[in-house]
Amino acid sequence: MKMILLGAPGAGKGTVAKLLAETDGSVQISTGDILRAAVKEGTELGKQAKSYMDNGELVPDFLIMQMMEVQLQEEGCKKGVILDGFPRTIPQAKELKKLLETLRIKLDLVANLKVPREVILDRLTTRRTCSNPQCQEIYNIKSNPPTSDGKCKKCGRSVIQRDDETEEAIIKRLETYTQKTAPLIEFYEQEGILKNFVSLNSKETAEKIREVLNKH
Ligand code: AP5
Repeated sequence: MKMILLGAPGAGKGTVAKLLAETDGSVQISTGDILRAAVKEGTELGKQAKSYMDNGELVPDFLIMQMMEVQLQEEGCKKGVILDGFPRTIPQAKELKKLLETLRIKLDLVANLKVPREVILDRLTTRRTCSNPQCQEIYNIKSNPPTSDGKCKKCGRSVIQRDDETEEAIIKRLETYTQKTAPLIEFYEQEGILKNFVSLNSKETAEKIREVLNKH
């Protein structure tokens, strides 16, 4: 599969992307995960991105595009790729279109995950994430908790709350989504590849996405 997952912060993009990637080995590229790993490792990209992320703002387009040009040229992407959290702005979507044409990669689907705002707010305040940059497994203290002593079930490292999970940053991220990312819905509708999925159950959503892709 070659697809983009769109949706507000907390809509479940990361959760659905991991379920989809498990089925056919497609590469999940989460710009949020890559940026958090860069911050943790203290790389130049991480240093430049950190303040934007902590404030719930988007990292500048040129930094994201530099990063994605490298990621999309990885060999595995030719077989299958799930873009989670990218593109996030109209300029990113236009640049991505050119890049995919150059790399001869054709998108099958843009899946827009729709979740009510009150559900999103609840999910974001109860999310926990594995602190291991190579793992970053997603948990939720209500719907999918880590071990009873707060460790990741996959790699055993501590599970933490993200730095952008403060109430202030969450509200800012939702505002940023409405202003900068929601216009991508119309962009991809015009491209003729967008489908909406009301996503209250991630497993069911992953299943519905697979059905659409199988008919493709
Ligand atoms: P990023 O990590 O992409 O954050 P986001 O889009 O805000 O998305 P989230 O990771 O918060 O949510 P999600 O939709 O993946 O939901 P999840 O599956 O975790 O980006 C972080 C920051 O990096 C941005 O703010 C920005 O600064 C920067 N950035 C990243 N990409 C960028 C780009 N392209 N351009 C510029 N800047 C960029 O689920 C949420 C919670 O809900 C979890 O606890 C999960 O367990 C739970 N949950 C999920 N589904 C269900 C369900 N069905 N039922 C119950 N609980 C559920």
